[in-house]
Amino acid sequence: MGSGQEHGRDPSLREGKKYSTPSLRIRALAATIRFSFLAPFMKKPVSRVLIINDEPLVLKEFVKGLNAAARSLDNPLGITFTGVTTAREALAAIEEDGDLQAVVVDDKLYILNQKNAKKETSALELVRRITRFRPELDVYILIAQEHEDEIVDTLFAEAVDGYFYREERDYRGMYRILNAQIQERSRTPFYDQLKNYVWMAKDSWHTPGHSSGESLRDSPWVNDFYDFMGEHVFDGDLSVSVKMLDSLMEPTGVIAEAQTVAAKAFGARRTFFATNGTSTSNKVIFQTLLAPGEKLLLDRNCHKSVHHGVVLSGGHPIYLDSSVNAKYSLYGPVPKKTILSAIRKHPDAQALILTSCTYDGLRYDLAPIVEEAHRKGIKVIVDEAWYGFARFHPAFRPTALEAGADYATQSTHKVLSAFSQASMIHVNDPGFNEHLFRENFNMHTSTSPQYSMIASLDVARKQAVMEGYKLLSRALALSRELRAQINSTGVFRVLELEELLPDEAKRDNIRLDPTKVTVDISSCGYTVEDLQRELFDRYNIQVEKSTFNTLTLLLTIGTTRSKVSRLYDALMRIAREGRAPRRLYRFPEIPGFTKLRFLPRDAFYCGGELVPLVNDKDGIKRELLGRACADQIVPYPPGIPVLVPGQIITREILQYLVGLLRSQKRVELHGIVYDGYLPCLRVLKPAEEKGLRRID
Ligand SMILES: Cc1ncc(COP(=O)(O)O)c(C=O)c1O
Repeated sequence: MGSGQEHGRDPSLREGKKYSTPSLRIRALAATIRFSFLAPFMKKPVSRVLIINDEPLVLKEFVKGLNAAARSLDNPLGITFTGVTTAREALAAIEEDGDLQAVVVDDKLYILNQKNAKKETSALELVRRITRFRPELDVYILIAQEHEDEIVDTLFAEAVDGYFYREERDYRGMYRILNAQIQERSRTPFYDQLKNYVWMAKDSWHTPGHSSGESLRDSPWVNDFYDFMGEHVFDGDLSVSVKMLDSLMEPTGVIAEAQTVAAKAFGARRTFFATNGTSTSNKVIFQTLLAPGEKLLLDRNCHKSVHHGVVLSGGHPIYLDSSVNAKYSLYGPVPKKTILSAIRKHPDAQALILTSCTYDGLRYDLAPIVEEAHRKGIKVIVDEAWYGFARFHPAFRPTALEAGADYATQSTHKVLSAFSQASMIHVNDPGFNEHLFRENFNMHTSTSPQYSMIASLDVARKQAVMEGYKLLSRALALSRELRAQINSTGVFRVLELEELLPDEAKRDNIRLDPTKVTVDISSCGYTVEDLQRELFDRYNIQVEKSTFNTLTLLLTIGTTRSKVSRLYDALMRIAREGRAPRRLYRFPEIPGFTKLRFLPRDAFYCGGELVPLVNDKDGIKRELLGRACADQIVPYPPGIPVLVPGQIITREILQYLVGLLRSQKRVELHGIVYDGYLPCLRVLKPAEEKGLRRID
């Protein structure tokens, strides 16, 4: 890797040549002093290792020996050992102890149920149960040397990380291996290298122009920006010229390493970091899987990036109408029946894309859908923008990949600790065409990606692996508390799965992600806009989203008990105002899909012409009826396209759009063009239509 080889321990450091300018020397010194000053106050990790051995005396000896080794050797991760004698206790400890990082299982049989001593579970079965429950844990086996040959092969097939000989009683050796393994898992290859580079304080003769913040720091006009953002935002903002930081477009060093450990963590064959959100991740996959004209099955309620991906790829979309909960204006999953029948009707489709979970937390029962799609050779992409944490707690699994999906895209920034726009693409497609993928990935990726964003993906993965289970357990507990507290106001009410699910999807085995909390506000006496304003202005609370009669709150691994208390307090105070319920006006339901006459890409790239939506008498413009739209028209909310390029315009659609324009409520109407004050649609000219291939 050329200069990539010269890492943190730069020889020039030892030779005392390092800080060539006083300002750099002072800065580096100040940073070191600050770091060492803060270090004692920074929380230190706690890591527990569970030993499972059914002979109490042997167990005691192991735990004592290992704890003594941990005390006497270097122990930066705070490792301590505890022991249990039965599989049942082991499974309980694995469920309860979020600080558990590794498990050492004796290969002998363990009694699962003490009341029924005959019902035993083998070490192998126990390992399976442990890894099913918490796949991120390191698992080691204690074996008798003479059984090595029989056992080792079987155990390694079960993702066991290693084994120790029971008779050796080499506690210091065992400790060193466990410590090294946990340290390996908690390594952040890219972030570590970024820090190394920053501490090396090289003179920058490359982009970015702020040159580690030097252009801002001493400026009387913009130094406040430097102070507000913090120095490392700038000195960590580097360019592809720095070879030791690898290249996002052709990773072979620390980015490749960080992606490999992320793939292991998320259960993928390959993982790719993306720095322009899941919006771009979706487009990259579409362009990889679809040649122009090839069919794609997609939920009409998919995120707009999916619809843009259809235009870019030139794919032929087959839209699946989502289920609608009209009472709360919530657009749910596509009914299973609809998906399965589309798969059977279009076996020539290349791919199917679904969103799971949805914005409101509804998760598909993916496995049977994936199975049916695979039977027809259709690849399955799951947009997990809202579900990137799911792998790290059994309450949220199976993930899309665990259910057999070929691709999953995740907005790591939405629900884990990465910076905004940081996203991951996970690939399990056995026929993955890496070259094509890379070309498309590079087509969409800036040649100047934000390195702090890549570092944040690396760190978010580490956090998910090391403490995701613990933090998600807390988020689940807070969600239960919050739900009970909201319901106790007697005015606000949390909608549970039964009420959220539209009738068409009630028998589809759909589940709810409890970290998304949808609250019925219809009895509180406020309109949803007034309530949001009140929460924001008076109680400093900003919610995730709303419909005309619901608010949706998002709990994440960053939600704290004090935030929950403040929200409860605010809702209780509002409830106690005892206002009479207001009449709430719902949005009209979005019309069903009509007909696609041309491929979206063909229609989009026509010049088209602008035709007003309304006539002189304020009625709908008849000239638009039967015409093909050239743009995607998306009312927001609900964010579902009412028209896509190439789709035929009907009276119903025009009435719906004109109704929204006349409504008192502020609705964004993406895709409408204003000719002066006149709202218009861009439609294909008759001559353009003649030149295009029809697909209806
Ligand atoms: C279902 C879905 N997919 C994709 C995206 C885009 O994600 P990002 O904001 O990471 O670009 C969103 C964003 O809200 C979304 O809701």
